[in-house]
Amino acid sequence: MSELFRRTFAEINLDHLAHNFFEIQKVAGFDRFLCPMVKANGYGHGDVQIAKHLEKCGVENLGVCLIEEGLLLRKSGVQSDILVFRGFDKYGAQKILDHHMIPVVSTWDQIHCLESIADDVVSVHLKFNTGMNRLGFDPDQAEQLFTYFKNSKKLKLKSILSHFFNGEDAYLENGESKKQTDQLALLLNFFKPLNVFAHLLNSGGIASLAKVNNDSNHYLQKNNWGFRPGLILYGYQPKNIFSELNLKPVMSLKSVVNNIRDVKKGESVSYGAKWIAGRDSKIAVVPIGYADGVHRMLSNKNLALFSGQLVPIVGRICMDFLMLDVTDVLLKKQNKKYDDEEVVLFGYDQDGQFLSAEKAAEAAQSITWEMLTSVGERVPRLFKGGAEL
Ligand SMILES: Cc1ncc(COP(=O)(O)O)c(C=O)c1O
Repeated sequence: MSELFRRTFAEINLDHLAHNFFEIQKVAGFDRFLCPMVKANGYGHGDVQIAKHLEKCGVENLGVCLIEEGLLLRKSGVQSDILVFRGFDKYGAQKILDHHMIPVVSTWDQIHCLESIADDVVSVHLKFNTGMNRLGFDPDQAEQLFTYFKNSKKLKLKSILSHFFNGEDAYLENGESKKQTDQLALLLNFFKPLNVFAHLLNSGGIASLAKVNNDSNHYLQKNNWGFRPGLILYGYQPKNIFSELNLKPVMSLKSVVNNIRDVKKGESVSYGAKWIAGRDSKIAVVPIGYADGVHRMLSNKNLALFSGQLVPIVGRICMDFLMLDVTDVLLKKQNKKYDDEEVVLFGYDQDGQFLSAEKAAEAAQSITWEMLTSVGERVPRLFKGGAEL
C-alpha cells in the first residue's frame, strides 16, 4: 500500500463480507450452485481481495462480467471457477480457455467460436432471455440448442440460466419474476436429459427466498435455483423486500477534515453560490469529491457523519472537495479540536454509528449498486478484519 497523503479511503470490512456470505449460505444450503458476483471491481470493494477472502470462506465459483476482470483474478492467484457473463469473440474465447475460465454463452457465434478452438472438453453455461432483453438465447431456440449440446463432443453443457429484471418482486406469486421463473422451469425440464442444473437468483431473488422460507409451497422453493448474489454480499438488500437476512455493509467511505472555515452570514459556499449561510457558520472542508464517487447530485442534499453526528453537505460538491456545515456540532463542543476529524460519507464511523449508502442513493436518485460501484479508482481500499473464519 502506497503512502496516504490524503486520508480519503474506502474501508472494507472482510469480517462483514464473510458474515454476509454465511447468511446467504444459510438460505442456500449446501447442495445449491452458489456464484458470488465480483464484477465491477467486486462492486467497488476490490475484486482480488474480495475473491480471495470468499475463497477462504469456501467459495468455488465467482462471477465476472469482463474477460479482463477474470484475467486479473487468475493472475492474482484466484483458483475458483470464474464464470464470464458478458460474452466474447474468438480472441476472447481463446483467453477464456487459456486461463481456465468458464464461458456463459448467449449466441450461436459464441458456441461456434468455442467449438472451433477447443482442444479439450469445455464446460459451458447457457443463458436464456426470459424478459430482461439484454443477453441470452430466446427460448424458441431451445430445441436446436438441445440437439446441438446432445451431440457436441467438445462442449459440455453444465447449466442453463437467466436473469431477473425485477428481482424485488420475486417474493410475490404474481410478479414479473414469477413469470421469468416459470419460463426457466420449463426450459430446465426440457434440458433435464442433459443432466443440467439452473441458476437464476440475484439479490432480489435470494432475499425473496429468505422471506418466504417458511412457505414450502412458494414457487421459489422449487428447482433448487442456483444463487448469483451481488448486492447482498456487500451488505445491502434491494429495497422493499424486508427479508430477515441479517446483513452488514462491507464498505465505509471515509475522509478526514482538511480545514475548517468561518463563513459569515450571507456569504456563499462553493461553485455557483448554491448555498448561502443563514448565520455565521463553521464549514468543514473535506478532501473527497465527485472524482472520488460522491455524486454531484448530492450537493445540498445529503448528510455525512462528523464527530458522531449527521451534518449537511452544503454547496456544490467539487471534483476533489465537499463542504459540511458543522456549526451546530462545534457550538456544542467548543473546546474540542476538529482538525483531523473523521468524516463518513456512508458506512460506519469509529464508534460504530452507521450511515446507509441507501440514503445517498435515494438523495442522488440512484441505486445502492451505483453508490458502491462508483467509488473512484483513486480512492484506496483499506482492508480490515479477515483473520477469523
Ligand atoms: C447475470 C447477473 N447475475 C447476478 C447479478 C447480481 O445482481 P445483484 O447485485 O442484484 O445481486 C448480476 C448483476 O447485475 C448479473 O448481471
